[in-house]
Amino acid sequence: MTVSPDPMPAPPTVAVIGCGTMGIGIAIVAARGGCPTIIYDADRARVSKALAEIEMFLAGSVKRGKLDPQTATDTLARFILASAISDLASADLVIEAIFEDIAAKADLYGALNRVCPSGTVFASNTSTLSITRLAAASGRPENFVGLHFCLPAQLMKLVEVTPGLRTSAETLTRSRTFCEAVGQIPIETKDRPGFILNHFAIPLNNRAIRLVEQGVATARDIDLAMKTAMGFPMGPLELVDLVGLDTQERLCDTFFSITNDPALACPPLVRQMVAAGWLGKKSGRGFYEYSSSATFGAEG
Ligand SMILES: NC(=O)c1ccc[n+]([C@@H]2O[C@H](COP(=O)([O-])OP(=O)(O)OC[C@H]3O[C@@H](n4cnc5c(N)ncnc54)[C@H](O)[C@@H]3O)[C@@H](O)[C@H]2O)c1
Repeated sequence: MTVSPDPMPAPPTVAVIGCGTMGIGIAIVAARGGCPTIIYDADRARVSKALAEIEMFLAGSVKRGKLDPQTATDTLARFILASAISDLASADLVIEAIFEDIAAKADLYGALNRVCPSGTVFASNTSTLSITRLAAASGRPENFVGLHFCLPAQLMKLVEVTPGLRTSAETLTRSRTFCEAVGQIPIETKDRPGFILNHFAIPLNNRAIRLVEQGVATARDIDLAMKTAMGFPMGPLELVDLVGLDTQERLCDTFFSITNDPALACPPLVRQMVAAGWLGKKSGRGFYEYSSSATFGAEG
């Protein structure tokens, strides 16, 4: 039996699961767009840390004249910190942004399905996993959709919207409407690993990593080449530091296992850096080194 998504109020209450690199940005988008926004992470310390980072980001936006102080205050007031999955029961839309691991995501959807009303829409920010498979694990395939935000979500407008085989037209329309209402630009893709963007981003990032591996040039010079000659706003190695080396490793492994495309295989240097704890910006060291006040560009 098809269960229609509950009529989505405007603004809907949004729950974001996973307060990591992507979850924080997606939560900012939702709250800044006017939605009461519940944030939840299995690691409870990450929830309060996320709120502190969100506060810093909003203060920076005000300082740079991108956001007026009242909007920043209102945005901050929309956050609700969850300490258990049962706190997500009032959400109209749940956006999951946890590790790229199909078993972990499937387990989470099982728990969520028991907590949320059957009409609540579930969305995954997965980069490479099948939306149809995740939807099947959710127990509500009609009310499931892929919403792939780009990094950093709070600054990038694009969202790849992906229906699974059983996603209803209503869920798709509501998801697109939500994206537009919070100021994003949705585009629709078929349920194929990597959607559109990662077919370009992951091989390109891997190429840059392999050049470092081979000692062809420093990270700084590779990034400078791409920014200066190709007009990239950020070099590929700066981007990998922001993505997170651990996330890059997971993305390559899942994407390669599905496609067998050698361009998507995880470079050994990424595995070494992850083993060394050099996860990129979030750990203070990746291809570059970061201090608490550092911005991109300090060569590692
Ligand atoms: N980093 C990127 O550039 C990027 C871009 C687009 C999409 N994505 C996708 O977004 C998702 C998240 O990636 P990320 O880079 O933000 O990861 P991350 O490692 O920065 O954060 C993941 C967070 O999820 C939490 N978590 C893990 N399991 C959980 C569970 N069962 N319940 C609740 N919380 C849990 C972790 O504690 C962590 O805080 C992945 O599917 C990834 O493929 C990542």
